[in-house]
Amino acid sequence: MISFENGVFSLGTENFSYMFRLTAHGQLEHLHFGATVAMTDAQAFACKPGTGWGSSVNYDTDGTCLDILPLEWSGSGRGDYRESPMALDMATDFVYQSYEIYGGPAQMLCGLPQAQDVTETLEIVMAHPGGLTLKLFYSLVGEVLLRRSVLENRSEETITLHKLMSFSVDLPGSYEMTTFDGSWDAEMRKSKVSVGAAKVVHESLTGFSSNRHQPGFLLSEPGAGEDHGNVYGFNLIYSGNHYASCQRSFQGLTRVMQGINPENFTKILTPGEIFETPEAVLCWASDGFNGLSGKLHSFINSHIVPKYWQYRERPVLYNSWEGCMFDFNRGRLLDLASRAKKLGCELFVLDDGWFGARNNDKAGLGDYAVNRRKLPGGLKALADRVNALGMEFGLWFEPEAVNPDSDLYRAHPDWALTDDLQPVYGRNELLLDLTRPEVRDYIVENVSATLDSANITYVKWDMNRHSVALGAKAHAYILGLYDVLRRIFEPRPNILLESCSSGGNRFDLGMLCFSPQIWCSDDTDPVERLEIQNSLSYLYPQSTFGAHVSAAPHSQTLRNTPLSTRGNVSFFGCLGYELDLKHLVPTEEKEITHQIAFYKDYRRIFQFGRFRRLWAPEGLAWQVNGGSTVLAGLFHKLVAAAPGYEQLRLQGLQPQSRYCMTSREQLLRVGQFGGLVKHIAPVALDPNGFVLRTADRLYPMNDGVQTLEASGNALMSGVMLNARFAGTGYDPGSRNQGDFCSNVYTVQEMK
Ligand code: GLA
Repeated sequence: MISFENGVFSLGTENFSYMFRLTAHGQLEHLHFGATVAMTDAQAFACKPGTGWGSSVNYDTDGTCLDILPLEWSGSGRGDYRESPMALDMATDFVYQSYEIYGGPAQMLCGLPQAQDVTETLEIVMAHPGGLTLKLFYSLVGEVLLRRSVLENRSEETITLHKLMSFSVDLPGSYEMTTFDGSWDAEMRKSKVSVGAAKVVHESLTGFSSNRHQPGFLLSEPGAGEDHGNVYGFNLIYSGNHYASCQRSFQGLTRVMQGINPENFTKILTPGEIFETPEAVLCWASDGFNGLSGKLHSFINSHIVPKYWQYRERPVLYNSWEGCMFDFNRGRLLDLASRAKKLGCELFVLDDGWFGARNNDKAGLGDYAVNRRKLPGGLKALADRVNALGMEFGLWFEPEAVNPDSDLYRAHPDWALTDDLQPVYGRNELLLDLTRPEVRDYIVENVSATLDSANITYVKWDMNRHSVALGAKAHAYILGLYDVLRRIFEPRPNILLESCSSGGNRFDLGMLCFSPQIWCSDDTDPVERLEIQNSLSYLYPQSTFGAHVSAAPHSQTLRNTPLSTRGNVSFFGCLGYELDLKHLVPTEEKEITHQIAFYKDYRRIFQFGRFRRLWAPEGLAWQVNGGSTVLAGLFHKLVAAAPGYEQLRLQGLQPQSRYCMTSREQLLRVGQFGGLVKHIAPVALDPNGFVLRTADRLYPMNDGVQTLEASGNALMSGVMLNARFAGTGYDPGSRNQGDFCSNVYTVQEMK
């Protein structure tokens, strides 16, 4: 609902209100963003500056001072010395002119992606004496508010725009800012700072949203927790350089803004030209971080990912990369595919290395002609064979980049983006200049032709060059990328697109508008993935996480983790397998078969159920709620000797209903116990001898078997779990996996 009365704009749903009013001088004074309130509350929220502060620079002779007002937008040159969301080569005092409220969204002209099914939009027109118009758009969709700004040059002069944020707002109060920062293989490290007088800037400068600084961030009241307290979430529907800043004024107003990074950004606007900013997402919850995540998750599942894939279950996939890298041929792939099929996988994905001279990462990128030495019958023959096994077929591309050692580069060296200086390479690559129409046409035609040449139902769209060479071209590049994605995938909505950029280097809402899932990280070590997926869950739903089980010891950390934990972590995302299946022993094959069958039984809940981070003082716990069925995962890192009792505390159950809680059956290898086995075996056995090695391959042992019945209230209070291994003997009911152990529990309401 959006309304306007007595100079007050009120927007919101049953669950939140956003309110601001016109000041006497045509500025927009922010009043409220939080719990649902009535128009009649506006006066109560209004600022009461009394006789004001000394030494202020006044907007007018009546004593109005912009510097102390909570504003919805602010300019420069008229007394507000806080950061302005806009920069031109002149003062930027825009004043209110008119408004309009209409159903649906305001059309975007420049091709940036937008949230779907917007219910209502408020458009506010602000005017500048120099003949410029600024439009501020506020749209309602789900439980979030979208904001963006558009500048129109209606003057006779050409102007230069240096900065235009999507939104700015001044929230009264003190906040802590949570950001998610990282690097390749180490995405989404969570950190929190208090927002005070010194400005906190959170930005990316590589040309992409980047793994260095995730564009989504949170502001919370001090003391807010997972399940209580006021929390705000902000994000940008954009994949390029982003910028956000937060700063608390001396009067106790926290200014927050977000948009395209102004560094390296200039836009010349000739008379009549406009510049549109990406949509920003603003969300509030009073029930802590979990409450906020719930709202953001349903917004993304319902309004960001492509319609065809909304709440559509994702296949369990097998990906060739970690198992084969570049070293494969048709025979090896088909062997892997038939093994994957036997385990229960539904989609076989051929990763890098299938085209051109792509036998390592130094050559061939750009030449998407199938390598006939590796795949003599071509892609169609391979896809047909995979289909005949009963699996779908998917393919990897990296269409934005080129190796200088490629036919494409030799034919069109000028298509590669370089600074005017000596080219700098990332993973031996340069990016193609997606600002040029002929380059975009080439990519669209090339990729489309390959997709139509065989039965391909999944694409992994990778991008491994971590920066756009020319900063100033960064925004135009991103618009070019969206154009290419739209032209390839809108006519082929049933292709499941998984975006990837050396893992999570481009995990953002812009990419999610095209690809329903994103490869979270090249780091598939489950202990690392726990943190990465946990951090992502603050902002993004688990349906968007590509989450694969890989080999142990892990290729990046050398950590040895139980296969059960590798599966349990990946369940809370879109499950896949990415390891050489030839090396599995029978016990492992059995465990994987169980994992996939279990996941398929509960896939809808794992992918789309309401996700919550649970209380878990000794480890980390997650829950997904699918109504009468709830699934919970409890994960540990290093175990301690003689561990004490441990409880699991769930959420969101019916207090009076009875539930049956059962652990997922998971299997242990005998070899897990090493030399200990000889203590309990009736005959003397060599721990490295033939008998035990054979037993290890063939005979699985049960782990953590537990069933109990309890009321919803009991489960939400915390029920006692079975003991952990304490060096006093093996019991199948105990949790015996040692370091990095985990269990998944199904909790079923009993009728
Ligand atoms: C990137 C991706 C990997 C894999 C390789 C292939 O690193 O993140 O998953 O696809 O490229 O070269």
